[in-house]
Amino acid sequence: MSKRTCLAIVLAAGEGTRMRSAVPKVLHPIAGQSMLAHVLTAVRGAGTEAAAVVVGPDSDAVADEARRMLPKARVFVQAERRGTADAVLAARAAIAKGADDILVIFGDTPLISADTLKRLRGAIDHHASIAVIGFRPTDPTGYGRLVMNGHRLVAIREDKEANDVERSIDLCNGGLMALRGEVALEILDRIDNNNAKGEFYLTDAVTVADGMALEAVALETQEDEVRGINTRAQLAEAEATMQRRLRAAALEAGVTMIAPETAFLSADTKFGRDVTIEPNVVFGPGCVIEDDAVIRAFSHLTGAHVGKGASVGPYARLRPGAKLGAKSRVGNFVEVKEAKIGEGAKANHLAYIGDGRVGDGANIGAGTIFCNYDGKAKHRTEIGKGAFIGSNSALVAPVKVGDNAYVGSGSVITDNVPAGALALGRGRQVNKTDWLAGKASKKPATKKPMKALGKKKAKTKR
Ligand code: UD1
Ligand code: CA
Repeated sequence: MSKRTCLAIVLAAGEGTRMRSAVPKVLHPIAGQSMLAHVLTAVRGAGTEAAAVVVGPDSDAVADEARRMLPKARVFVQAERRGTADAVLAARAAIAKGADDILVIFGDTPLISADTLKRLRGAIDHHASIAVIGFRPTDPTGYGRLVMNGHRLVAIREDKEANDVERSIDLCNGGLMALRGEVALEILDRIDNNNAKGEFYLTDAVTVADGMALEAVALETQEDEVRGINTRAQLAEAEATMQRRLRAAALEAGVTMIAPETAFLSADTKFGRDVTIEPNVVFGPGCVIEDDAVIRAFSHLTGAHVGKGASVGPYARLRPGAKLGAKSRVGNFVEVKEAKIGEGAKANHLAYIGDGRVGDGANIGAGTIFCNYDGKAKHRTEIGKGAFIGSNSALVAPVKVGDNAYVGSGSVITDNVPAGALALGRGRQVNKTDWLAGKASKKPATKKPMKALGKKKAKTKR
């Protein structure tokens, strides 16, 4: 990489009308992360020193997301939506600082890679004053067309402005642009709004540069990288592309997937080696799965840490703050939230473990519930090492069960259980040995009252 400095300007002030959403377009998620977060991750990966994010008025949420992803980013407001060139100029103060390269990236092009951003910078480093990314989409409708003269890019014609000849060009504008810093402001200031939409088009920078005898070039990339998201259908296509990428990367990194096309990952999902993922598993944001763990079919994980060699599911639900120790087992229909499961501990069928801790080697029987909520606040349940909780027990938090203690099945535990003790919190069983004999000595019921009962029932139904 060259030693040239770079300012990345991310445009995110568009209204995104075509999404028909109350949520700003760039905050719609792909693989569990906002479009803007994907773009800013690429920006960071491209080694840019400075970043500016241009947002619309009243876009606090977009500004917050920008700062969360890239604390050094400066946020600029484009007061009126007057086109992509006008949006770039909203960051005039940042451009004026004089970076060697200016990179313009659209917030609605979330599949872009850091490598492509680097390639664009490379072109500026060599000779050109402007470099753009072209691609050949299956359906070019809506994209600007790249008008070439040999190796020189002489114009970008917007779909709405193009004549029939230009519209037949299959090389389209991916939307990214690199400008040589020393001429960037001069070029941008010369762009006018004499066009169909009455907007200042960033794409006109090419014609302006041509008129200044400055060279513009086009590089090419795959459609998958520069898909612009304007509609929900395009959002779904981008999600599918991103999922294919994430699965491929996981397989490459040593994960076994029985049916990769049915596993759904988040951009930040982390896998160790020899992890096995059975069919139909969903990973929401914030999951870490260590070596040798097995995630069985139909499990749903979000914000969970699964330790080495642990086993999850089938049909398990791990919610944020679930932390499973090495070789632990969380079985079918078990839900875990904000709780640590110790090494080698087991949680069986239909248990709910919320807010607390299960010690190493402890066993949580089927149907056990951590009653963590009293209607107002959440409380913790702590289960000691090697403890055994009988099936269908209710542990009413806050409560502690000591090491190696034993809780009888069907107990409702409201008081702490000392280490090694047996706790029984249930009604005592009563066996009435003469019950059948007593029944036989009674007269069987006559038919009359049965009929009366039937009539009554019918009446209430009406
Ligand atoms: C744009 C390009 C087109 C290219 C396509 C690639 C222009 C004029 N056209 O078209 O050549 O093929 O992207 O996807 O650049 N924005 C603002 N403020 C504005 C207008 C737009 O911040 O006033 C932002 C939007 O939030 C978006 C980006 O700029 O992130 C692109 O705007 P959009 O309206 O989506 O442009 P396209 O019509 O898709
Ligand atoms: Ca767009």
